[in-house]
Amino acid sequence: MSSSPERSPVPSPVRAPDDGALPSYDAGSDVRDDPWYGRRGRMSPQRLADFTELYVRYGLSGADPLAAWRPATLEIGFGAGESVVDLATADPITRVLAVDTFGPGVLALMRGLEAAAIENVRVARANVLGLLPELPAGQLTLVRIFFPDPWPKRRHAGRRLLQPDVATRLVELLGSGGVLHYATDSTSYAQDVRARLHGFDELTPVAPPVRASTRYEAHALRAGRPVRDLAWRKRA
Ligand SMILES: C[S@@+](CC[C@H](N)C(=O)[O-])C[C@H]1O[C@@H](n2cnc3c(N)ncnc32)[C@H](O)[C@@H]1O
Repeated sequence: MSSSPERSPVPSPVRAPDDGALPSYDAGSDVRDDPWYGRRGRMSPQRLADFTELYVRYGLSGADPLAAWRPATLEIGFGAGESVVDLATADPITRVLAVDTFGPGVLALMRGLEAAAIENVRVARANVLGLLPELPAGQLTLVRIFFPDPWPKRRHAGRRLLQPDVATRLVELLGSGGVLHYATDSTSYAQDVRARLHGFDELTPVAPPVRASTRYEAHALRAGRPVRDLAWRKRA
């Protein structure tokens, strides 16, 4: 890689108690202090009960550690999970780890997995920053990040997910030939990520893989914002 990291390394996972008694793999990190996640992550007692039952089956847990399960695909910030269900329906073999902080979205994905009888997906209600250090390097064949929160104000750009240290770690996690696929409706985010990933000698831009459209994407298109898909392959 030709560029040097601009921030400190990705933080180690911290297993903190959860706000709403929701099971979660790793609750540590600043994203959960953001009122957006706190307010919008609440669920009714019935939904919470459904969540807990389904998370036993589909959630990543201490009994199903990452090192043993060894996912090949990582999807970060899946929202309501339609892209994950679509991927796993098309390929029911490849192991997918799907990570999001948003409890109701995690529940929606788990319901989708159950309805489609999908067995090759594990879900983590977690801040991905806490999981990245735990994944084994060089194992992923695909990383998908579709419409990460755009944080459009310049002064909030530091809150965007694809910071230099995160990009560095994701490139480490990819195996040879692995692909990082990113989509956004934010022109400035796309420019930043393109410039950032251009700095990695081991990456080469490729045509983005086909993917299902997402809920956020539909919203962006309705609002008249163009969508960009960008992808890079890690050289051997
Ligand atoms: C704008 S939404 C897009 C959701 C989905 N990909 C779509 O296109 O509809 C961004 C998602 O990223 C999740 N997210 C944001 N920061 C995250 C983090 N650090 N770790 C895991 N998920 C995160 C949010 O909870 C949210 O579901």
